[in-house]
Amino acid sequence: MLDKANLKIGENSYEFPLIKGTEDEVAIDIKSLRGATNGVITIDPGFKNTGSCESAITFLDGEKGILRYRGYPIEQLAEKAVFLEVAYALIFGNLPTSEQLDKFHTDIKSKSVVDDDVKKILDAFPKTAHPMGILSSLTSALTAFNPSSVNVDSEEDMYRAIVKILGKFPVLVAWTMRKKQGLPLNYGSKSLGYVENIMKMMFEQPNEDYEINTIVKDALDKLLILHADHEQNCSTSTVRIVGSSHAGLFASLSAGISALWGPLHGGANQAVLEMLEAIKEDGGDTKKYMAKAKDKNDSFRLMGFGHRVYKNFDPRAKIIKKAADEVLNSLGVDDPILEIAKGLEKEALKDPYFVDRKLYPNVDFYSGIIYRAMGIPVEMFTVMFALGRLPGWIAQWKEMRLNKEPIGRPRQIYTGQTERSFTSIENR
Ligand code: SDX
Repeated sequence: MLDKANLKIGENSYEFPLIKGTEDEVAIDIKSLRGATNGVITIDPGFKNTGSCESAITFLDGEKGILRYRGYPIEQLAEKAVFLEVAYALIFGNLPTSEQLDKFHTDIKSKSVVDDDVKKILDAFPKTAHPMGILSSLTSALTAFNPSSVNVDSEEDMYRAIVKILGKFPVLVAWTMRKKQGLPLNYGSKSLGYVENIMKMMFEQPNEDYEINTIVKDALDKLLILHADHEQNCSTSTVRIVGSSHAGLFASLSAGISALWGPLHGGANQAVLEMLEAIKEDGGDTKKYMAKAKDKNDSFRLMGFGHRVYKNFDPRAKIIKKAADEVLNSLGVDDPILEIAKGLEKEALKDPYFVDRKLYPNVDFYSGIIYRAMGIPVEMFTVMFALGRLPGWIAQWKEMRLNKEPIGRPRQIYTGQTERSFTSIENR
């Protein structure tokens, strides 16, 4: 087995070590490249071929459609686990015992009260504000009411920050939605499970006793699990690089929320629903939108299709598509856009443009259909993605800090003006 990579530049030859992961992935370790070659660097826009770190949290294989959190296959977790135990596994490395899970949940509940002054910040937002902007601001605002830095070398300090954000974040999510709906803000009930309480905080009407719908609860557990981590995606890389400057956990998470908001990333789940609605309004003419997606002169993309890593299928999309059928049937919801979505997928899977580019439905393609059936407003879909991704962001931030990774600071190749002298304004 090769353990070195050879590079030839002009007459000079260089050797670099290869590193291999536990799933036999191989990387060229170029930490010494610039020094050894007197300044030569690599360049890779979008980091399509570049690893930023070694990580023990999530493994995915884009060709085989494999996704595992801490070695546990996503299919088994989605089927058998609850979200909080998956969060525990991502953050601490293994699925918890029942005692560990109970203590984790108890500690989270003990830290789930948000300083009441946060409501004043929430009040300042217009009802038209996008929930992702509100959530990112409120998450950053937590630093005003909690220690802004975490002593990562103290297990106790790190644990305290983790249970704090896992306790307070769902409150911020629920309050963000209810602010836009003009509903009172509440805390749910400590007697409920983690996901059940999120539902109560989000959906409880002030004039009635809230009943947990177990179909919705199971579907929400599954959706949050499927979104919980995804190795070095855009928002997770953002959380890691912001944290690499030793900015606090809450500030790093706030940055991750903003990165997730983009329609090419987590914002796609909202964009998918808007696209499907447009197609429905347009008489369900999927062929027209397929043509637009393929037209280089048209900026329209088939939202929810394509993925940087998955080049056969997104295992999460398969699970969510099946869950969409089950949840809508169980809830007695007949949503015509589910059929439109299935029609689009069917056409794309046999269209050379999509097949040649290996474009398949991703995690965002069907998720919004379930969220909508649950009564979650479209603008809140990416917030739900953030709620699911929170434990992954925490786990990745913690790993980066505990591994004492250096501050992230990429190089560049300068292509601007060469040296020239200042000229006074009279002479310009
Ligand atoms: C998520 O990274 C993660 O893990 C992310 C995520 C996670 O869990 O964190 O999985 C969550 O962000 C899922 C992706 C959600 N985004 C979308 O659904 C938006 C639509 N999809 C794309 O914009 C695109 O597919 C990306 C952003 C997802 C991936 O883009 P890449 O890898 O940079 O690929 P590319 O833009 O270079 O596209 C390659 C080709 C291009 O055509 P050519 O120039 O080769 O002719 O495929 C085309 C693109 O035009 N293409 C599409 C398309 N996606 C890519 N054409 C039409 N519709 C699309 N959706």
